[in-house]
Amino acid sequence: MPSLLHLTASARRDSFSRRVGGAFADAWREAHPDGSYVLRDVAADPVPHITEAWTELCDHALAHQISDPARLHEGARTPSQREAWAVVEPLLDELLAADVVLIATPMYNYSVPSSLKAWLDQVTFPRVSLAPRRFVVASARGGAYGPGAPKERFDYQERFLRDFFHGHFGVEDTTFVHAELVNSRIDPSLASLRPKHDASLAAALETARTLAKDY
Ligand SMILES: Cc1cc2nc3c(=O)[nH]c(=O)nc-3n(C[C@H](O)[C@H](O)[C@H](O)COP(=O)(O)O)c2cc1C
Repeated sequence: MPSLLHLTASARRDSFSRRVGGAFADAWREAHPDGSYVLRDVAADPVPHITEAWTELCDHALAHQISDPARLHEGARTPSQREAWAVVEPLLDELLAADVVLIATPMYNYSVPSSLKAWLDQVTFPRVSLAPRRFVVASARGGAYGPGAPKERFDYQERFLRDFFHGHFGVEDTTFVHAELVNSRIDPSLASLRPKHDASLAAALETARTLAKDY
């Protein structure tokens, strides 16, 4: 039975990354009526930042060369370490149970929201591979960062996520779907870019729906 973990990270409820991610999730659920689906909203239900006790769990895993996530709990020896593990365990279980991980995220300050980074910090341990899971990132950004765009080189959102999932978790397959130029809806100086935003949003929604059928 295939399973999808769907993370959402926008501080807005009425959000474009939520819309694009929702298009993927709806199409995926339609294609997999028996599949398992878990939605985690790290903006509405924030994951705490890691603590010193969390770093001790991490150090224990390093010192004991632990690569099997089923053994990570062995690091929880003191009350504060057990408290830290109690935060990690359900998040990690959810992630490990997924075949497909869908991350719906805005671009904030050229990168990802701190809510998403807090989740990532909690679930990331040395040597734990997430291959062969497949990752999809549904994003929204105020500007444009595609090939040839003047701000292309400032896209630390896609670069960070792609490089981190590949470099740390061994995930080869991360696909990005971006809805761009969202700020043209509200910034009068960008009004002339509104048609390009409309086209970008329509394409992102369509791509997300189509893509979901292959996952
Ligand atoms: C805190 C914050 C930081 C932002 N930083 C950027 C940025 O660096 N680049 C950009 O293109 N848009 C930026 N934006 C605009 C958002 O990416 C845009 O509003 C997008 O639609 C947010 O996604 P959402 O609709 O899912 O909330 C920022 C918005 C906020 C609220």
